[in-house]
Amino acid sequence: MSFLSLLRDIYKIFSPPQRRKLYKIQLLIFMGAVFEITGVVSVMPFMQAVGDPEALRDTISNIGYLDFMTVYSARELIIFLGLTSLLIMSVSAICSIYLTYRLAIFSASIGVNFADRLFENYMGSSWSFHAHRNSADMTKHIAVESQRFADLVMLPIMMMNSKIVLVSIFLVAFVIQDPYIAIVAGLLFLFVYVILYIVVKRQLAENGQTISETYSKRFRILSEGLTGIRDLIVLRRLEGYSRAFNKHGIMLSRAKGLNVALAQGPRYLIELLAFGSMTGIVLYLYMENDGNIGGLLAIMTAYALAGLKVLPSVQQIYVAFAHVRGNSESFYIIRDDLVLDNEGRSDIRQAIVKKSYPLPETNVVIDVRNLTFSYEDNNIAIKDMSFVVNSGEMVGFVGSSGSGKSTLMDLVCGLLEATSGTIGFGKKSNGSDLNMAVVHQDIFLTDGTIRDNVALGVVIENICDDLVLRALESSHLADVVNLMDHGLDTELGERGVKLSGGQRQRIAIARAIYSKPDIIVFDEATSALDGVSERQVMNTINSLAGESTILIVAHRLESVKKCDKIFLLEHGVIKDCGTFLALQLRHPEFFGSTK
Ligand SMILES: Nc1ncnc2c1ncn2[C@@H]1O[C@H](COP(=O)(O)OP(=O)(O)OP(=O)(O)O)[C@@H](O)[C@H]1O
Ligand SMILES: [Mg+2]
Repeated sequence: MSFLSLLRDIYKIFSPPQRRKLYKIQLLIFMGAVFEITGVVSVMPFMQAVGDPEALRDTISNIGYLDFMTVYSARELIIFLGLTSLLIMSVSAICSIYLTYRLAIFSASIGVNFADRLFENYMGSSWSFHAHRNSADMTKHIAVESQRFADLVMLPIMMMNSKIVLVSIFLVAFVIQDPYIAIVAGLLFLFVYVILYIVVKRQLAENGQTISETYSKRFRILSEGLTGIRDLIVLRRLEGYSRAFNKHGIMLSRAKGLNVALAQGPRYLIELLAFGSMTGIVLYLYMENDGNIGGLLAIMTAYALAGLKVLPSVQQIYVAFAHVRGNSESFYIIRDDLVLDNEGRSDIRQAIVKKSYPLPETNVVIDVRNLTFSYEDNNIAIKDMSFVVNSGEMVGFVGSSGSGKSTLMDLVCGLLEATSGTIGFGKKSNGSDLNMAVVHQDIFLTDGTIRDNVALGVVIENICDDLVLRALESSHLADVVNLMDHGLDTELGERGVKLSGGQRQRIAIARAIYSKPDIIVFDEATSALDGVSERQVMNTINSLAGESTILIVAHRLESVKKCDKIFLLEHGVIKDCGTFLALQLRHPEFFGSTK
């Protein structure tokens, strides 16, 4: 991957405002370099005056428009020149400080912006996208790679950019002053740095890759270890995780350290080279002028000052190259995710709901027609399915494991997009879309209060406590919450560890009810519960009947007994449909005997 193509790829990713900022900074960089060189050049007349004051007065009187200055004494002129040079140098220093600040802010803002864009893209992606991605990797991209890109790719590129402009301007000045010295010294430095870069280039890139890989491994170990801690404690398998984490940590620190050493280390060699060439230039000038160095004071000072500015800049350019080379991996890792095409995927549910149509004359709320869906690997999970659900109905979906029940519910909820066929939704009498909520078997609870969990994702100021309490009432949790010391403010602990399985399930139901859904989907919402809790939750669900349309997926047939109709699924098709009693008669092998 060449350096130029990296620059082009980064530029392509920038948003228009970022590009505009970049142009402004580029202008600032150019102005900064001009100030720096003016500062150095301004020293020359000053030093010349100190060396030979009368010659200065002659020069001035020769320049027509400056002869008014001959009224000043040589002493006054020297003071004037000294102060002017100091002033220009001060402006140049302030300019450099401001530029460093702007560059750092720009790079940091790019890092934050990339992290924001990644998070937004991930949050806007479909459920099938998330089903195929590792969440620890996505966390790493947002938390580490964007930061790494900002600190070790973007900032070095900007620094390098400013230093290249500075060095080029100085180089032009050197060539004008003395082409021979400029070209020899320039080529010498270029040669040394290019050789150095070629030698370390591969190692830097390899280390860069190691850094990304080991970060990735560490994030996965971290997330697996901390999420699966309960099983791991019982299985006594904690040590393996710590050991693996540590092993990748050692590899990570070695790769990071080596990259810094490869970038910073050669400095000492270069300083030696710089000192050698300065000595060389002095000796060369000394011999050229037959030992008469007095008149050369000005030019020597200019060279020394220029060396003071140029040499560290050359070193910084090299360091920046090394950092970019060693970390460009971070850019390519996040690039595709930065430009995720979320069009049409961003809110699939919205897209599907758009297919909804008003059905005033009938009572239909869900109209599934010839629905077919296959996962990426071409296994057809739902085949040419058609059915309708009427308003206020309670509908059961049963079938053996793998028959496609969850897939069907994910399609209805808009988590998956149908391969072919349509799902139509009715509308409310006022013409607005129907609300939907889903309660899964493995529910998600945040490390927050009961209120936060019931009103998940609602901004705190907009949470209506009355609604939360009513939802808890409907999910038969109000009594439990009333007994808690802090009521709605009770903290549930990470993933709701402070609640029983049945209570967690009912929090999820309260969350569904809070959004006042027209349709509620329960996908195996009770299958993890014991008999008593299940009965309580089923009572909760049954009490919602009539208010909302309810779809229940269940393993236990008890759960669908009260349904108005039940669909029996097999291998992705509806094998039969009817009331519990009718199905029981027709499929005793599945629904058990009527006796
Ligand atoms: N993310 C996925 N990627 C690929 N195939 C999948 C995915 N999820 C489910 N499947 C496949 O789709 C088919 C239907 O799965 P689904 O989860 O809908 O079954 P189910 O009826 O809900 O089963 P269960 O009762 O065990 O929950 C299965 O053969 C399964 O292997
Ligand atoms: Mg399922």
